[in-house]
Amino acid sequence: MSVLIKGGTVVNADQSVRADVLCDGGLITAVGTDLEAPGNATVVDAGGQYVMPGGIDPHTHMQLPFMGTVASEDFESGTKAGLAGGTTMIIDFVIPAPQQNILEAYHQWREWAEKAASDYTFHVAITWWDDSVHDDMGTLVKEYGVNSFKHFMAYKGAIMADDEILVNSFARSLELGAIPTVHAENGELVFRLQKELFEKGITGPEGHPLSRPPECEGEAANRAIRIAEVLKVPLYIVHNSCRQSLEAITRARNEGQRVFGEVLAGHLLIDDSVYRDKDFEKSAAHVMSPPFRDKSHQEALWQGLQSGNLQTTATDHCCFCADQKAAGKDDFRLIPNGTGGVENRMEVLWHHGVGTGRLTMNEFVKVTSTNAAQIFNIYPRKGSVSVGADADIVVWDPEATKTISTKTDHQNVDYNIFEGMQIKGSPSHTISQGNVVYANGELNVERGAGRYVNRPPFAPYYDALRKQAHLAEPVAVRR
Ligand code: URP
Ligand code: ZN
Ligand code: ZN
Repeated sequence: MSVLIKGGTVVNADQSVRADVLCDGGLITAVGTDLEAPGNATVVDAGGQYVMPGGIDPHTHMQLPFMGTVASEDFESGTKAGLAGGTTMIIDFVIPAPQQNILEAYHQWREWAEKAASDYTFHVAITWWDDSVHDDMGTLVKEYGVNSFKHFMAYKGAIMADDEILVNSFARSLELGAIPTVHAENGELVFRLQKELFEKGITGPEGHPLSRPPECEGEAANRAIRIAEVLKVPLYIVHNSCRQSLEAITRARNEGQRVFGEVLAGHLLIDDSVYRDKDFEKSAAHVMSPPFRDKSHQEALWQGLQSGNLQTTATDHCCFCADQKAAGKDDFRLIPNGTGGVENRMEVLWHHGVGTGRLTMNEFVKVTSTNAAQIFNIYPRKGSVSVGADADIVVWDPEATKTISTKTDHQNVDYNIFEGMQIKGSPSHTISQGNVVYANGELNVERGAGRYVNRPPFAPYYDALRKQAHLAEPVAVRR
């Protein structure tokens, strides 16, 4: 089936141009003026609207088994919610339990994701280490299209990666042409602070941010950066929430190191006052890690996006309903960590980014789509409205207004962290694989329509890095 998007302004990362867009066979087949619709084409009137690459959310956790429960949003409901918000692809995470065979975990997640409605791919977490993990990382890169590995520097006693794991896995990533990524929080410090707070009688959600101060994040970000520097491997740091980690990234980038930073829509817009709400349900609904910070960090994060030191925006969509959060009613350490947002990321960033003049439209496209596609090596198949790219497109109505509410959203969670936020600018149509899957408030997409996207390893850039790493080997000193 063909789709002709007519009369809009195509906004890519590099330029904006008045043009029609023709999609056929799942691909973009023409971008130009006055395109003719083939007889059977669906015509989308994009007059007065922007035609942009569909969003890529590089950080989601659909149906994640975590902290004794399973995230309420599954791959079908979560990708449908994403499509309703203009996000046409997610990068989710395979998270093997410690000692679990990582290929087995990978196949388990692939099976769960078969019901996804939009395209998807996976980072794979390295939660333990032995020779089998070393070898299986190779299989994942060479045979299964994985080019990024995730390391949780927090969650001690569960999935935390210590320095030994980081060093082994970062070095292996360089060999394979893959990029390591980290959740940067010092898990030892968090564990100690949690214990101290709890013993002092702080048992409610207000203990959550107190146990995870920005310094813990800054330390871990800097440690991961320095490990990557020594090993000469690029690094991607997920969900930067504070000035301290941004400063570590900025310093490294100024020194020429290839370090990338992600920021969540939530961290840009929500502050830590949410944890002081007396209503347990509300404050627990905001428990996620790293926590929301005091307002001063938000401005720094926006500046990070504006300066290009942070390149991607995500949601860390990981939903738990009130009955699940209640597991931590008497002990904040047991509240399942995670919040949603996959449906709202694009519109809140448009409203608070483009609408306030912090971001240009082209920068908006970069931070919601193109940069993620480039960093994770799927550009220009994704992240671009151009001939030959996948026809994953969002038609954006800059005049549309709405109030975000869990009553009207498609997310399978009983709380929306952006509840009540009034925004201007949202998708009128979402096109996925060349099909109109969302139009004027109605979703029309099949369970299982999404495809797994292979991501090739990085070359030849990594060949050069590997040579440098070799040069850095110790030389014998004559005395
Ligand atoms: O609180 C969060 N972020 N939950 C999901 C797991 C993670 O740390 O990304
Ligand atoms: Zn995390
Ligand atoms: Zn996460």
